[in-house]
Amino acid sequence: MAQNQYRISRSIREKFKVIPLTSKDIARLTNVGLDHFSFLKQVSSITFSVYFRVNMELLEYITPENFSHELVDKIIAARNKEYQNLDICVRTVDFAKFQNLIDTIRRKKMETLLEKDPHLDRKTMLVFADLSGASQMIVRGGISAAVAQQAKKSAGRLIDNLMDSHVAIGTLSRMVLADSTLYDHSASVAMLAGIISKNLMGLSRDDAERCARGGLYHDVGKTCVPQSVLNKPSKLTPEEFDIMKTHTTLGYDELIKAIEGGAPIEADVALVSLEHHEKFLGGGYPQGRSGRREDHVDGISLYARVVTIADVYSALLMKRVYKDAFDQKQTLEIMRGVSKDYDPSIWTKFEKSVDRSTAHFTELDSRPPPQKSPGRIFIMDKEGLRPLNSIKKSS
Ligand SMILES: [Fe+2]
Ligand SMILES: [Fe+2]
Repeated sequence: MAQNQYRISRSIREKFKVIPLTSKDIARLTNVGLDHFSFLKQVSSITFSVYFRVNMELLEYITPENFSHELVDKIIAARNKEYQNLDICVRTVDFAKFQNLIDTIRRKKMETLLEKDPHLDRKTMLVFADLSGASQMIVRGGISAAVAQQAKKSAGRLIDNLMDSHVAIGTLSRMVLADSTLYDHSASVAMLAGIISKNLMGLSRDDAERCARGGLYHDVGKTCVPQSVLNKPSKLTPEEFDIMKTHTTLGYDELIKAIEGGAPIEADVALVSLEHHEKFLGGGYPQGRSGRREDHVDGISLYARVVTIADVYSALLMKRVYKDAFDQKQTLEIMRGVSKDYDPSIWTKFEKSVDRSTAHFTELDSRPPPQKSPGRIFIMDKEGLRPLNSIKKSS
């Protein structure tokens, strides 16, 4: 497979500090990904350095002293050329600082969106921001016991704060259309899986929380799939599609390893990553399972059948290099065309809720704009999501 290879030019070597790396050093770096790195265009300063890794060399490219949007742009331009050997990273010890900054920017962007579109549901967006933080920790930091514990907390907060299904589904869908940089696929799959399992199917709190966590972890194997395959703008060749399919087994193996290392992840949660591309009537991958695990041993597990629906819905909404974003109506139409792939007892409930959501927001849009009112303000802090007026003043 042809891959673009970036080479560090002499002029860059003269201007920036180049540090030779050992494999041990690489383990002390965390790849931050282009989407979130681009968020740095929203700030005027940073308190950590951002590095540019090219094979076994590291450039200290952006420091707190030389930080500028121009330097951020230069990295974005280089990364957009799909150089496979170019990583944007921070030191792992600085990752929490980077993540905090991203969380703050994400919340600011959400506030801006809420001002522009008052029909969006604030509570849904806050819960979504919380899940996005957990999702990023999984992708960037790997699955340690601490990360798995964080995922458990975020999924628990989702279930304890579940909102009206049609309002939450509509808010997610409108949010991604309005500002695609806010979207996080795994966070949205987790949110939809939580809504489907708790609100629409009436599963227990524990089941719904696990199902949502299955959503958070479902694509964890994609970190092992080359960017050239993940972001290919044209149709994948059969060989490339075979590579793409491995994200299911690789993700499952990673989760099993994490479980063996003591991470609080249940076997059924890990199975979601293995089975979320199976189809209800067979013909999916990697194992070609069909039907329900409750009915026969070769069937697909319950959480995976829920996450499959959430996954397709979320993926269709998102703009990707190989496709445009679809709105709710278009997404539902496409899913209806392949609805035999889904467990009908789950699909029919979801279909109804999306239909209701479309009608709800169409009706809201037809009304005159609401009077400006602060509404009920919620905040998310260590104690979870709660209304602002429930917080006691300290003085
Ligand atoms: Fe997947
Ligand atoms: Fe996915």
